[in-house]
Amino acid sequence: MNYISVIDILASDAIHQEFTVKGWVRSFRANQFIALNDGSTIKNIQCVVDYENMDDALLNRVNTGAAIVVTGVLEESQGAGQRVEIKVKSIEIEGDADPEDVKLTILSPKRHTLEKLREQAHLRVRTNTFGAIMRMRSKLSFAVHQYFNENGFFQAHTPMITGSDAEGAGEMFQVTGLDLNNPPKKEDGSIDYSQDFFGKETNLTVSGQLEAETYALGLGKVYTFGPTFRAENSNTSRHLAEFWMIEPEVAFYDLDANMDLAEDFIKYVIKYVLDNCQDDLEFLEKRLIDEDKKKPQAERATMALREKLEFVINNNFKRVSYTEAIAILRNSKPNKKKKFKYLIDEWGADLQSEHERYLVEKHFECPVILFDYPANIKAFYMRLNEDGKTVRAMDILFPGIGEIVGGSQREERLDVLKEKMAALDIPEEELWWYLDTRKFGTCIHSGFGLGFERLVLFATGMTNIRDVIPYPRFPGHAEF
Ligand code: 4AD
Ligand code: MG
Repeated sequence: MNYISVIDILASDAIHQEFTVKGWVRSFRANQFIALNDGSTIKNIQCVVDYENMDDALLNRVNTGAAIVVTGVLEESQGAGQRVEIKVKSIEIEGDADPEDVKLTILSPKRHTLEKLREQAHLRVRTNTFGAIMRMRSKLSFAVHQYFNENGFFQAHTPMITGSDAEGAGEMFQVTGLDLNNPPKKEDGSIDYSQDFFGKETNLTVSGQLEAETYALGLGKVYTFGPTFRAENSNTSRHLAEFWMIEPEVAFYDLDANMDLAEDFIKYVIKYVLDNCQDDLEFLEKRLIDEDKKKPQAERATMALREKLEFVINNNFKRVSYTEAIAILRNSKPNKKKKFKYLIDEWGADLQSEHERYLVEKHFECPVILFDYPANIKAFYMRLNEDGKTVRAMDILFPGIGEIVGGSQREERLDVLKEKMAALDIPEEELWWYLDTRKFGTCIHSGFGLGFERLVLFATGMTNIRDVIPYPRFPGHAEF
């Protein structure tokens, strides 16, 4: 390589040696100081120009946003704020950026709102905030693979196009090769999917779980990490139509082992970013403190970002049954004063995010694992408890996020599983292969799904899920 990255040169001790760096101009101050960033770190390398001995026409092209190649000698910096800087020998402009055009974009050096940055999502990665978020997203993704690899898991690549609705929620995007203006029809007038590309109705997957289960019952410990799609019309700061999900599935694990795995896994990946993303975390933490200053005291965060992450690592998640949670919620102030939008009246009620957030943020003030939910508010594949009315489900709730994990011990008994499917009108023909696993050496097994973007939200301290994925997809929006 004929150049060095900014992160490496900032760490270099090779004073008086010549280097070449390549990057984008963040600012050019006093015709002398170029702040150059190449994305390898949030930090810029300061390049000092001896403007009296440089071509004016060239220096006029060193504008914010331009891509340039700088060659010069590494020196200890006289100025505050950096240890080293480059004394420039030569500059090459690789790509100009017209200042008049830059002014109209988020590249112009002033504060832009997150909404504005979203409109220019193709440029926002060049800002400090989004550089930090996206580097952290990548590190978190790496930590996920490292955790599972270190713990004996195999990655299973489950299909993205499927013929089944894993969650039974019916919120799927259809995949078809048929001409929508003139689809083949059956005699009764309905669409004839036997003539479609796959010879049947297909959709984008909402979860790789069912296929992952079949793999766990052969490889023992597996996980998936891939895109999932939900056509739910949820225009919220926590939902995407396309998001990435991590789904471990383990043979011979019961629900307790599943909870232990989830807690250990989350702590590991958060510790990983604390250890490996210090500069980005410092920046994001400071950004949050600045944002908080604009808010009234009562709305400000009680912990700084890194303190909040340390807190999660150093404390046990509180494990509470659904039944206990309902009792707490029923007697809670917002319930009695009718402050909840959905009042908690009876056992069996589905928990809304307002309830989940009350439990985590007000009542327990730490991450909470809720388990043993009523069977009729959870998916068909969860194992029925002896009481006949609850299932071995667990959700992990996080402060500021709400549900970050959903999982369960799976129903391994063929007869019980068939009964539940019948009750929910799920045709056995569709899931014959899933039922087969309960015929040939069925065993206790468990797993969970963690929404990767919700994890990135928590780790970066951001509040809108649209800001932690490069190109968010949500109702009415598939730009870029
Ligand atoms: O609770 P969910 O729907 O569970 C499943 O899909 C199971 N099959 C997982 C399993 O047991 N293998 O989704 C799991 C997690 C949620 O807790 C949430 O973090 C995330 O996926 N999630 C979403 N994230 C962003 N946008 C959405 N629309 C999401 N829906 C779920
Ligand atoms: Mg869920």
